[in-house]
Amino acid sequence: MLSKEDFLLDPSTIFLNHGSFGALPRALFEEQQRWLERMDRQPVLFFRDAPELLRQARIALGDYLGADADDLVYVVNSTFGVNVVAQATRGMLKEGDEILMTDHEYGACDRAWRYYHRDTGVNIVRASIPMPVPPYGDLADIIWAGVTERTKVLFISHITAPSAILLPVKELCRRARERGILTIVDGSHIPGHMPLDLEDIGADIYTANCHKWMCTPIGSAFLWIRRDVQDRIGPLVVSWGWQAERPGISRFIDEHEYLGTRDLTAFLTVPAAIRWMQSQQWPTVLAISRSLREEGMRLLCAIPGIRPMLTDADDDVLLMGAVILPDHVDPVAMQIHLYDHDRIEVVIHYWLGVPILRFSVHAHTSASDIEALAAAVRRYVA
Ligand SMILES: Cc1ncc(COP(=O)(O)O)c(C=O)c1O
Repeated sequence: MLSKEDFLLDPSTIFLNHGSFGALPRALFEEQQRWLERMDRQPVLFFRDAPELLRQARIALGDYLGADADDLVYVVNSTFGVNVVAQATRGMLKEGDEILMTDHEYGACDRAWRYYHRDTGVNIVRASIPMPVPPYGDLADIIWAGVTERTKVLFISHITAPSAILLPVKELCRRARERGILTIVDGSHIPGHMPLDLEDIGADIYTANCHKWMCTPIGSAFLWIRRDVQDRIGPLVVSWGWQAERPGISRFIDEHEYLGTRDLTAFLTVPAAIRWMQSQQWPTVLAISRSLREEGMRLLCAIPGIRPMLTDADDDVLLMGAVILPDHVDPVAMQIHLYDHDRIEVVIHYWLGVPILRFSVHAHTSASDIEALAAAVRRYVA
C-alpha cells in the first residue's frame, strides 16, 4: 500500500491539498529524470524522435481515457487548454452571443474567457449554484436555466475548484448538443480521481490535468477535441506546426503539438504514471481515499457551526471534501494559522462571500492526517 514515503512530500507537513498541484511519487520523479537525461544527452536526436515519442504517450493516455490518441494533444496545464479554445471562439462568436458557465469556475479560466472576449461584445453569463449545493439531480436544470436563444458556448467544470462540486456534465453536454451549443469541459480534477470515458461524456472539447490526481509531474495536461470540431480551433502558440513543411498525422496534431523547443518530459512520463497506477491497484487506492474523505467530512461536520457543502450523498466518488465554515471565521487568517501552528495544508477561502474549507485525500493521506485536521479545526473555530 502506498504511503507518504512514496512521494516527494515534506514528511513534516500534513498535506491535505493534493487538489491544487497534485504530489509527485518518487517512482515518477525518477522516470522524468530518465527522460531529462535522454533529452540532454543528445538533444538533436531527442527532438528528431519527439513526434513518435509523443505519439506513444498520446496512445497510452488515449487508451486510458477512452479516446482516439489522434484527437488529443498534450498541453502544459488545463488553463492552457482553456486558453486555446477561448481564443479560437473569438472568431466564431459575434456581438450579443452568450457564453454560459457557472459562478464556480476556476479563476484563471474565467479570466481567459473574459480576456479573449473583452472587446467582442460577447456576453459571459454565469449560472448561479447556491451554497450549500442542491442535490446532484437538480444541478443540470439549475445550470441549464442560464441558456437563452443567444447561448453559443457552454463552459463547465466537471468538478469545481473552489467548492469541490461534481457537476452533471454528461447531461449538460447532451442538452447542449441538441441545441448546437459548443461544449467545453474543464475536467482538471477528473483523470485519476474517477473513471473517465471521453467519448461517453459527449463534450466537444475536454481539457484536464494529469498532474493532479494521476500524480504525473507538473506540466502534464491534455486537450481533447472532437474530430469534427478540430478545424475550428487554431493554435494558441504559432510555431513550426502551422503550415508545416513536413505535415504529420493531422493539422490538429501539428498545430497544437509542434511548438518548438520545450520540455516534453512531463508528457512523456504519463505512460509510466498509468502503469504505476495500475500496479498500485488504483480502484483500491481510490476506495481507501474515499473512506478517508468520508471520515473527514463526518469529523468536520460534527464541529458546531460547520456545514457540508453538498446536501446529498451523491458525493461518494469524490476525493475532495468542502465544508462551509462559521461566518465569524476569517479564511486567510485560519489558513495561515493551520499551517503555522499545525503544519496542515488545506484550502480555506471565501467563495461568493461564503467561507469554505476544502481538503483533499490521496494515496499519501493517512487516518491520522484527517484526525489532525479535524482536531485543529475544532480548536480554531471554538
Ligand atoms: C477546475 C479547475 N480548472 C482549472 C485549473 C487549472 O489548473 P492549472 O493551473 O494546472 O491549469 C484548476 C486548478 O486547480 C482547477 O481546479
